[in-house]
Amino acid sequence: MSQTHFGFETVDEAEKAGKVKGVFDSVASKYDLMNDFMSMGLHRVWKAYTVAVANLKEGDAVLDIAGGTGDLSRAFARKVGPTGTVVHTDINEAMLRTGRDRLLDEGLSLPTTICDAEKLPFKPGTFDLVSVAFGLRNMTHKEQALAEMCRVLKPGGRLLVLEFSKVAKPLQKPYDWYSFNILPKLGQWVAGDADSYRYLAESIRMHPDQATLKAMMKTVGFGHVDVHNLTGGVVALHVGIKC
Ligand SMILES: C[S@@+](CC[C@H](N)C(=O)[O-])C[C@H]1O[C@@H](n2cnc3c(N)ncnc32)[C@H](O)[C@@H]1O
Repeated sequence: MSQTHFGFETVDEAEKAGKVKGVFDSVASKYDLMNDFMSMGLHRVWKAYTVAVANLKEGDAVLDIAGGTGDLSRAFARKVGPTGTVVHTDINEAMLRTGRDRLLDEGLSLPTTICDAEKLPFKPGTFDLVSVAFGLRNMTHKEQALAEMCRVLKPGGRLLVLEFSKVAKPLQKPYDWYSFNILPKLGQWVAGDADSYRYLAESIRMHPDQATLKAMMKTVGFGHVDVHNLTGGVVALHVGIKC
């Protein structure tokens, strides 16, 4: 049995998805509140930047992978209008239900489906744009998931990967201090769950850095990949073009 990482823990590959499910089952109801607390609202700026880079037009077909509580799906739906499509997906039912309820409360009824990014249930060449925000880090076989994202894009279509990344050197010490001291306490206080936020801090350290992720995207078939560092590399937006 091959092994992989769950945060700093080494686990059998077959165990990881179940452990990730445990994290998101636990935090789903407090996920949005916690995002605002722990990023001091910055996740809204990172997502707004992603939507601006997406540069969608009316009628576009979009797939939001690991869409969770639906921030990107909602913003994309407004851009593509009634002639376009945004499919809101996630592997986790609790996250997807929370997101779907939120979207419905805001008057948006989007196609919503549970799916694993590593086995996407869509035909090749279906979408103009695929997004995955803060989701790739949690996947067991990242290259398999990226290859699937490439497969379902139309030629010329783009993949946007918004994810925590490697911070610039001067930020490393304060960022580590915040991640390992403050974040789990915030998690305990806001969501009643320190462990899930300890996993978050650890999984960020185990995630491929900007250059490695760019190389992975090229390996699975993206002809061109741009990297946008945000907030000193706390987060990076990778934009891959299928060409
Ligand atoms: C941190 S949340 C991100 C939610 C949302 N995209 C956002 O930016 O707020 C990560 C999401 O990735 C999902 N996820 C983890 N593994 C996945 C997989 N293999 N396929 C699809 N989604 C997955 C989790 O269920 C969770 O909802």
